[in-house]
Amino acid sequence: MNRSTLRIDYTETVKEKLDREDSELIEMAFKAADKAYSPYSNFRVGAAIRLDNGMILQGNNQENASFPAGICAERAVIFYAHANFPESKIRAIAVTASPCGVCRQVLLESEKRAGAPIRMILANGNKIFIFNSVKDLLPFGFDSF
Ligand code: THU
Repeated sequence: MNRSTLRIDYTETVKEKLDREDSELIEMAFKAADKAYSPYSNFRVGAAIRLDNGMILQGNNQENASFPAGICAERAVIFYAHANFPESKIRAIAVTASPCGVCRQVLLESEKRAGAPIRMILANGNKIFIFNSVKDLLPFGFDSF
């Protein structure tokens, strides 16, 4: 029997201290949040993805009267990216919230497809949290062993 402890590396900062690329991506995520369709929760979430070809894609949560049919901002933009640019790798994602477990699982697969860590820039009020890999946010995720 082995007892282990996981260490999670992350950076806590504020928008004003972000470098140009991270700052641009989180701003795009906030802009995307403004266009969310969330009449049931009244909670707007935006996400923006940077691909390895330099493109930035945006998404937001899209709700439905049949609640489970709605989709989170992260999955909306991740699946759009894979559907339209299947050969491109996701390098970074910025989100105006902390991703739910399902989105973390989807991001884990995108990271696997990319073959390289995906940088995650997450906003929570005035605070920004940066993770260097999806694995840091979903240790022991399905298929990650
Ligand atoms: N939501 C997201 O879009 N992303 C997250 O990271 C957390 C939650 C959405 C789902 C739903 O439309 C609303 O926020 C309230 O849960």
